[in-house]
Amino acid sequence: MVIAIDGPAGSGKSTVAHRIAEMLHITFLNSGSFYRAITLALLRAGSIDIRDSAPHFLQPQDAIVSFVQALQLEYRDAHLILNGEDVEELLHSDIIDACASPVSAIVPVRHIVNVHLRKIAQTMSIVCEGRDMTTVVFPDADYKFYLDASIDVQAERRFKQGVSNLSFEEIKARIQKRDALDRHKAEGSLKIAGDAVYIDTSDLTIEQVCEIIIHKIHV
Ligand code: DC
Repeated sequence: MVIAIDGPAGSGKSTVAHRIAEMLHITFLNSGSFYRAITLALLRAGSIDIRDSAPHFLQPQDAIVSFVQALQLEYRDAHLILNGEDVEELLHSDIIDACASPVSAIVPVRHIVNVHLRKIAQTMSIVCEGRDMTTVVFPDADYKFYLDASIDVQAERRFKQGVSNLSFEEIKARIQKRDALDRHKAEGSLKIAGDAVYIDTSDLTIEQVCEIIIHKIHV
């Protein structure tokens, strides 16, 4: 079984997907963590210039793609393992937040990630979340949901995570920029699948969102 959830940053999809997976005793698959781990590897390799407001790549795309192709990416117990190292705790810094979107806009990188995601889904039931789970990666998912939230709520949720060094207004501006980028990618852009259940989570608790989703799922 595949339960696919998409939505912008701060829509609550990670927390909700994690809870739903626990409730149904199936695997939680966070597709964003693949893009984040790849971004970490590229940053460590010095392949991204982060001095300007818009990060840019210091190598041609072919070299970036070859580098990504050679990375060993595994997903164990909802932790991303990069070349044998559990990097889960390193994936939510402001720098990775800012650079993951341009990395995920590289189409061949998306194809590499998609192969990983589909391979995982072949062997187990999953609740996956991201931007293109319902549209590109698992268009035939058993259940599809699109979670949304107002920009203020998105920024507030990120702010309350306490992992950012930025002010509320800075976080809000960055989320707006990132979501705009995520909505205009050549492939895998964030959009609402025609057959997805749309949930505006702005005024809902995590429990209420989970309740709506569980109500729609028949297991
Ligand atoms: O969901 P997240 O914030 O952890 O995702 C990190 C980045 O990766 C974000 O800029 C969107 C991108 N992403 C994507 O393009 N496709 C996905 N399926 C998941 C994430």
